[in-house]
Amino acid sequence: ATEKAAIVSRIKQLLKEKDAALVAHYYVDGDIQDLALETGGYVADSLEMARFGKNHSAKNLIVAGVRFMGETAKILSPEKRVFMPDLDATCSLDLGCDAKDFAKFRALHPDRVVVVYANTSAAVKAQADWMVTSSCALAIVHQLKLDGKKILWAPDRHLGRYIQEQTGADMLLWNGACIVHDEFRAVELELLKASHPHAMVLVHPESPQAVVDLADVVGSTSAMIKAVVDGTATEYIVATDKGILHRMRQLAPNKKLIEAPTAGNSATCKSCAHCPWMAMNGLQGILNCLETSSGEIFVAEPIRLKALTCIERMLDFTK
Ligand code: 13P
Ligand code: SF4
Repeated sequence: ATEKAAIVSRIKQLLKEKDAALVAHYYVDGDIQDLALETGGYVADSLEMARFGKNHSAKNLIVAGVRFMGETAKILSPEKRVFMPDLDATCSLDLGCDAKDFAKFRALHPDRVVVVYANTSAAVKAQADWMVTSSCALAIVHQLKLDGKKILWAPDRHLGRYIQEQTGADMLLWNGACIVHDEFRAVELELLKASHPHAMVLVHPESPQAVVDLADVVGSTSAMIKAVVDGTATEYIVATDKGILHRMRQLAPNKKLIEAPTAGNSATCKSCAHCPWMAMNGLQGILNCLETSSGEIFVAEPIRLKALTCIERMLDFTK
């Protein structure tokens, strides 16, 4: 504990000295979320993280999350140095959507507007008309449908299917999935609901359809937190990465939070309700960024410029 306290205090000092801001996703370790908030940084969903990084005046950003979040920050703020505690922290959606394969898919459907989820590489975003996150995908696709557009969507098939169902848009879906949310199970969730009949069920839209169908609220991580804080229920069943429970408990200490059931349990299933890549973010990694400039994110300028357009379009839409 004393070693941890020493690291935390050194990080706090270096954040100030180096004009750096720490921004964290809700799925990373609670200590890192607390540190971000205590030092004037931010804890947020992926859309809010992108906006925070762009608007903050610090010269250096430390992004505690997964690779695409660091890349998005760099694309939006090329004048800043952007660091990540572990550059190997990726995402199954990003891994499952290779830029060259995506280019072939896109070339087969030139009549479609290309909408990609934030959870992709800069090289995939460089090929897109729109980037969306789970908090704005519905509104953006709804507008595209009103404009008469047909859509090519990548990579999350569950989120894509949900948006298609909600908007009625013509969407062609890439076949990707999040290894964490894909593990939530509907039959077990129904049983859990039956034993907690007054609980409100909150589901992230990267979950399978049968799980989403049982939800009272379907939304991004921020939307799920808002539902717990504002909700009148006393119990909530939460179907997303368990890292989110830390912030939910802080903001709604009197509410009972119950983890939604997954295919395995934590002893047998590494990705069950906790993202192995989000878990790679540690205090030591943050200290290394500040002390040795390790974990810096670079995006080649031609890719950055192309990817910037689809991200800015989203930020303008959601202003
Ligand atoms: P949010 O945009 O809802 O924060 O989701 C990001 C993510 O990686 C979910 O798994
Ligand atoms: Fe990617 Fe899923 Fe991890 Fe989010 S939780 S970063 S979507 S693998």
